[in-house]
Amino acid sequence: MSEPKSNELMEKIVSLCKRRGFIFQSSEIYGGLNGFWDYGPLGAELKRNIKELWWRSMTQLRDDVVGLEATIIMHPRIWEASGHTSTFSDPMVDCLLTKKRFRADQIEPQSGLAYHYSGAKAEDGSLHSQPYSVLVAPGKPPESARKAARLFYEQRGIKVQELVGETGEKVENTTRYNPENGSLLTEARAFNLMFKTYVGPVESEENLAYLRPETAQAIFAQFKNLLDVSRQKVPFGICQIGKAFRNEINPRNFTFRSREFEQMELEYFIKPDDVVEQAAGSLARLQADTDLSTPQPNWGWEVWHKYWVEQRIRWYESIGLPRSAFEEYWQKKEELAHYAKATVDLLYKFPFGTQELEGIAARGDFDLAQHQKFSGKSMEVFDEQAKAKGRRAHYLPHVIEPSAGVDRLILALICHAYHEEQAPDEKGNLEWRVVLKFHPRVAPIKVAVFPLLKNRPELVEKAQAVREWLRPHLSVFYDEAGAIGRRYRRQDEAGTPFGVTIDFDTLGETPALKDTVTLRDRDSMKQERVPIAELLSRLLERIR
Ligand code: GAP
Repeated sequence: MSEPKSNELMEKIVSLCKRRGFIFQSSEIYGGLNGFWDYGPLGAELKRNIKELWWRSMTQLRDDVVGLEATIIMHPRIWEASGHTSTFSDPMVDCLLTKKRFRADQIEPQSGLAYHYSGAKAEDGSLHSQPYSVLVAPGKPPESARKAARLFYEQRGIKVQELVGETGEKVENTTRYNPENGSLLTEARAFNLMFKTYVGPVESEENLAYLRPETAQAIFAQFKNLLDVSRQKVPFGICQIGKAFRNEINPRNFTFRSREFEQMELEYFIKPDDVVEQAAGSLARLQADTDLSTPQPNWGWEVWHKYWVEQRIRWYESIGLPRSAFEEYWQKKEELAHYAKATVDLLYKFPFGTQELEGIAARGDFDLAQHQKFSGKSMEVFDEQAKAKGRRAHYLPHVIEPSAGVDRLILALICHAYHEEQAPDEKGNLEWRVVLKFHPRVAPIKVAVFPLLKNRPELVEKAQAVREWLRPHLSVFYDEAGAIGRRYRRQDEAGTPFGVTIDFDTLGETPALKDTVTLRDRDSMKQERVPIAELLSRLLERIR
């Protein structure tokens, strides 16, 4: 899709999200707060469905993963051990004119004529020798640069009589200037992304704490407790869903880069390769034809890593995002985080670009080793069988970490589901409809129930009875307002996969159709006649 079309599409999606109550800007009545988003009724249901499906796939449908729900604020030493206090930063630059802040690595390279000034002479004759530069697009006159330079010196309290030492220089592919106004930027400085707070009433250094920037570290810090209580043996995993906070320099692309968001993370602990080799007598390395369907005792970390990449793609497929919607990006050696042996980013083709939805990293024993060092508590596991055989019995497990963002996934699901298409109205005339083609598993509302007419009490009574009957099993929405076609369209926009209409045949006008309803499929718009007695099983079969 070409650039303007993508922007147009994103605008439509953002507007639909607000109009239909999926996502609102946080604190909107006060002008909003950049990087924070609230989920409305449909968004909240969608979010719950996604988290429940992830949790179920990780914990209830597997024997080897247990869950954790840890606090957001933890001991600050955790972030020292993990490296977040020293290295969790982005390079930041400020516009010298407007003070607007940018992430240095996100500035698009520009070319043009850079006008440099060595200073400015003030009206009182004094000379101020602070250098300043402005980038002007090719072919543009220098006046705009001079205007910006005067403003720069005036902001510093100088009543400018004249600019001093103007020179022009052709520059190419520079990232030193504000792309919005051409002003020189500050040198890049590291900006730590963790939000700070204080625990207790005194705002002192020793009471400093952080809002967690990832859920993963709680899992490492609680590793020993979880190992003891779960009676799991390596290989096994611990997963968590929860809020994470990052003071992003430039939140952007709707919810894609937010300052408060949710993660779904699994830390899957495996034996180091040498322990596997000792215990199993061989080590399986990743081959093009490795069968990844069932874990084997001789799998080395590369095979486990690829296994989890595959598991995660399959899970996305199960909620309606096909494999073809993704790109697998295997990070190059020089791109890897200091702790990672390998990382695969699952990239989704968002309208604003192909971007990371989930990262699956092989983290070695970095985290457990760091917490062992910083806490002084052993994080090693003990293998009795290995001891009995006279082999290495104590070791630090290694980790494979699939880490997904809930909010990014919601955005991907909405983008993927969004369709505009022509459909016939009740009179057969074609009209445009907006439809969210969510997989029934994630759809916020599973079925809408409509009486054909709201002014016929017998229809309303029957429709309400059907709603009450379905309600304990599915999320049901009852709607009696407006023409039936309009009601269908409203549910199409909400992504409701099924619509049930109670009409006069339901009441027995055609005796053979008594106690049947029409069941409408959102995507094909086809309607079938279904006995009420079979409705629930038909729906459940298509939703589960
Ligand atoms: N524990 C590893 C970790 O946190 P990450 O790549 O920084 O890795 C994992 O984050 C996932 O969390 C990302 O793939 C993304 O889905 C989500 N995520 C990260 N930063 C985010 C942000 N600012 N806004 C929304 N989601 C974010």
